[in-house]
Amino acid sequence: MAEHNDLMLAPEGTENRSLIDSLVGEFRRRFDQDPRVFFAPGRVNLIGAHLDYNGGSVLPAPIARGTYVAVARTVDRRMRLASMDLPRTLDFPLSDVPSVEDLGWAAYPVGVWRLGNGAEPADICVAGDLPRGAGLSSSASLEVAAGLAFSTLFGWSLDARQLAELAWRAENEFVGVKCGIMDQFASSLAREGHALYLDCHDRSHRHVQVSGEIELLVLNTGKPRQLVGSEFNERVEQCRSALGTLRRSSPGKTCLASFQPSEVEAARGQLDDIAYRRARHVASESLRVSKAMAALEDGDYETLGRQLLESHRSAAEDYEVSCPELDFLVEKICAQRGVYGARLTGAGFGGCVVALQRPGSVGKEEERSLRRGFSQRFGYEPVLMRLRIGGGPREVRIES
Ligand code: GLA
Repeated sequence: MAEHNDLMLAPEGTENRSLIDSLVGEFRRRFDQDPRVFFAPGRVNLIGAHLDYNGGSVLPAPIARGTYVAVARTVDRRMRLASMDLPRTLDFPLSDVPSVEDLGWAAYPVGVWRLGNGAEPADICVAGDLPRGAGLSSSASLEVAAGLAFSTLFGWSLDARQLAELAWRAENEFVGVKCGIMDQFASSLAREGHALYLDCHDRSHRHVQVSGEIELLVLNTGKPRQLVGSEFNERVEQCRSALGTLRRSSPGKTCLASFQPSEVEAARGQLDDIAYRRARHVASESLRVSKAMAALEDGDYETLGRQLLESHRSAAEDYEVSCPELDFLVEKICAQRGVYGARLTGAGFGGCVVALQRPGSVGKEEERSLRRGFSQRFGYEPVLMRLRIGGGPREVRIES
């Protein structure tokens, strides 16, 4: 109940202190007043590729990086929004909110503010330490951090789930991106050191502790995901079409993820090749999520890692959301001793790979050789990040 109403200051050392200090300095310079600062994390999705909008279950985990929103009330009926790393600054009267196109990056916080029934204005400055557009949920973390900031400042009293719903609606209804619910829920419901088992059909969830016996590696291809919008919507459409066909013999089922692989096989003759392969991915991925979840709880990391690798293959072959850069990184990182498994995380088409390793397995030497191999093939180096599973949205302490 109302998890965000009892705001806790984060423990020392878990924040990006220098970023917070610059953000506060920038806010004071621009707006000539003191802000409060709120944080929401980005995420990796351990498994459950493209299942959220198909009503399946997913297993994201928060990372110790995300978005910081500095905010304060204003008195002049104007809204002002600035970002530390994006050039456009917005300044408009409440009576004349710009269009989504004109807002650009600010459409995310403004969408949350509007749908949250924002009637009062604020000054806002944003900073983050997530690579943008890399599949680590930089947009969702901005929406959730802004939602938490407004909720606290204006007394909306949203609990974590309401905040996730608001952020998701802002992205779908205001920004106009038809994403599933995973990213906003993963950020808003995040809990320190835990993954989130989320049933995207009924939106129930459970936190699962991730033991210190495994460590996250995130490898960023650095490849811009240019096609992500159109290709993403195409996948959503293809799944809708497959569901339409499969439902003819099972009208009671309302989502693609509720079909078993055997049911998809039985209907193969009625599905075109694309619909068949998309449905096969969704059905098989749902089973892999269950197996991965059980393996994580049992501490069986070999099995967990195998599910990740199979998930990647299915996402690449049947769902066709991988690319040579992602495949290369998955193959090479999985060949390292102590790495249990890896897969693309997020929508795919570029972005990042998440890998699970026995702590400390991939050292500097292995990292160098991986980067060199990638650069020989693709002409530039990928970035490897050793990330902690971080905590959830919160207000952060400001040094005066
Ligand atoms: C993006 C979307 C999510 C989800 C993933 C794929 O991150 O925003 O809703 O569909 O892709 O699993």
